Amino acid sequence: MSRPIVVDTDPGVDDAVAIMLALASPEVEVRAITTVFGNVALESTTTNAGRLLAHCGRADVPLAAGAARPLVHPQRELAREWHGDDGLGGRAAALPDPVAPSGRPAVELLADVLRASEAPVTLVPIGPITNVALLLAVYPELAPRIERIVWMGGSLGAGNTSGVAEFNAHCDPEAAHRVLTQDDVPVTMVPLDLTLRCPAGPEWIDALAAAGPRCAALAEVITHYRAAFRERYGIDAVAVHDAVAVLEAVLPGTLRTTPRPVSVACDLGPARGATVGMPEGSGPPVQVALDADTDAVLAEILERLRRLG
Ligand code: RIB
Ligand code: CA
Repeated sequence: MSRPIVVDTDPGVDDAVAIMLALASPEVEVRAITTVFGNVALESTTTNAGRLLAHCGRADVPLAAGAARPLVHPQRELAREWHGDDGLGGRAAALPDPVAPSGRPAVELLADVLRASEAPVTLVPIGPITNVALLLAVYPELAPRIERIVWMGGSLGAGNTSGVAEFNAHCDPEAAHRVLTQDDVPVTMVPLDLTLRCPAGPEWIDALAAAGPRCAALAEVITHYRAAFRERYGIDAVAVHDAVAVLEAVLPGTLRTTPRPVSVACDLGPARGATVGMPEGSGPPVQVALDADTDAVLAEILERLRRLG
């Protein structure tokens, strides 16, 4: 039986890779896609998710929009310079018209999916983790129906939005702190420390582009993101951050994790959004993914995407 999962996302170019990876992987059944503000505003992340579902012929997957704002303080910045103004590298309009979201909020859809599932569900947030924090707050009784949370976010080392904060954590530090410090649901955190070691280079992108029309369109979506990486880092490669997290949900154990309590800086100072590894015993351990066979990770992601043609 395939493992039930939900992807909570802010597409986002690497989110697009991750969503298509999930839909291409028979080991999992995508029970819903929920959206959150992040790379671009909620309206765009939701439309983009709907376009990606249509692009993959998956109008059967329920879609619901979630939080438009962080829990406490305003989002300090979007990521348009990385993902384009439309969130998909300026190529959103080239994708099919979007699958329409249900009119209900994401937390309600998430709760329904958890209640209806015959097995515990893996939640895979790959943006700001606001919706998951809200779910745990509004429906604490559903925690036992969550297998685990696999979050692309955080960094034990340098950040990518400030010197110390990773974008998803920086968008909503209070939500990240709430989820990372609770002990009702196991959490696997997939941080920059690992995802930046999985750069998809020219050969990977070219192979994706040659795999068929759906993959070619995804390669087009990546073009803007690739130019941004070249400009910022001087490399011809892109970090498929979110797809690394989804691959862990698809193939548990692909990433090698270290148990570490993690605290999140929630003050308004310069370190806001930093995810800090804490001393053993100082809080519930988060499984922090710090190592993997990165070549195998990239090859596995590509091989699965190719199945979409
Ligand atoms: O820091 C990388 C994360 O921020 C990814 O989820 C990317 O999509 C952006 O949201
Ligand atoms: Ca994302």
